[in-house]
Amino acid sequence: MNFSYSNKTLIQFGEGSISTIQDLIPRDQKVLVIYGGGSIKKNGIYEQVTNGLKKHHWIEFSGVEANPTVETLDKAVVLARKENVDFILAVGGGSVIDGSKYVAAAICYDGEGWNILTGKHKITQAIPMGAILTLPATGSESNTAAVITKKTTQDKLAFMNPNVLPQFAVLDPDVIKTLPERQLINGIVDAFVHVCEQYLTVKTDAWVQEGYAEVLLRNLVKLAKDYDQKDSKEWRSNLMWTANQSLNGLIGTGGPQDWATHMIGHELTAFYGVDHARTLALIQPSLLRNQIAVKKAKLEQMGQNVFGLAASDTLALDTVDAIETLYNSLGMATSLKDADITANEAIPTILTALEKHGGVALGEHQAITLDVTKAILESAA
Ligand code: NZQ
Ligand code: ZN
Repeated sequence: MNFSYSNKTLIQFGEGSISTIQDLIPRDQKVLVIYGGGSIKKNGIYEQVTNGLKKHHWIEFSGVEANPTVETLDKAVVLARKENVDFILAVGGGSVIDGSKYVAAAICYDGEGWNILTGKHKITQAIPMGAILTLPATGSESNTAAVITKKTTQDKLAFMNPNVLPQFAVLDPDVIKTLPERQLINGIVDAFVHVCEQYLTVKTDAWVQEGYAEVLLRNLVKLAKDYDQKDSKEWRSNLMWTANQSLNGLIGTGGPQDWATHMIGHELTAFYGVDHARTLALIQPSLLRNQIAVKKAKLEQMGQNVFGLAASDTLALDTVDAIETLYNSLGMATSLKDADITANEAIPTILTALEKHGGVALGEHQAITLDVTKAILESAA
């Protein structure tokens, strides 16, 4: 497929690199630092940020929750307007960075911010932002996407717009040292599924995208296998860079993409509060088995090139088994029951929400209708 590709986020990679914000943000900009529940105050990141901003005029907004809500973020919009902020610095994981993208765009829009999520408002401008990543997982630090929740209605929706692409992303692998293991494992699995959503579709003739996707997948398998090395600089650096590259636009360029696992997963987070990555592990193995006929060729390619499996009649299914075993080896549940979700209750709830959000024809062939999703959820029970 024809494509145009650009990713203008400057990546500042390496230990000690948080200090570079002093030069990355123009000195005449009034900065709003946005962060989450306060982990950055316990692990020294906040101190590094304040040191880096010594010569800037800056204010802060804290309390952006995991799976950020529009209710909280709208308070940041009010503050940013009142204080005439020029630049947003997001310090956190995907939630803080996504939330900051929403704030950056909502500041420039007089209507109700939620319209950005429903598509009623198309973003034409946003104030500039940068990100200091504290949790390698989503790739939000150098992509155009954000996922925001409306708490009052339990809607979790996404938007994508080039105006909210961060100008820079600071990737300091040291930040991983203080991550709870649960979040670290979430990061590996989220990145793995991001590559799958862009790669596990149909065979293409895009050598660069397919080959690079396989490198990223092999890295993530190795990071999971070598999990006991997680305190080494090599392990941490490779996780950070691999997760970033898994969703920065490159491997998905010019080819079909799936994203059905994510769409179903977002509903599970909205209603049951399950961590984003954990919803993906619950859904994806069942979805792949359900879609095996259309994904067979690519699953076989992945089996050989990523997991090193031998050619056989059962290779595609063996590959799905290998993916599920990978998640289980990290302690991730791959069935609703193991995640304490009652399928009988959850399935109608998820289907109703998907219908409301237009998720009625998912996947690279738009063939995952509500009936198909129902079958996937039943086999994930
Ligand atoms: O709130 P704080 O104090 O920052 O604590 C966070 C939070 O409790 C903590 N944490 C982050 N860095 C830490 C740390 N704790 C100790 N040390 C550190 N260095 O980890 C918890 C989870 O953080 P969160 O940002 O929610 O996690 P993640 O990065 O996995 O982001 C998940 C969100 O991103 C969205 C998801 O839907 C979810 O809302 N996604 C965004 C995407 C995008 N923009 O492209 C794509 C993804 O598929 C995903 O949908
Ligand atoms: Zn994800």
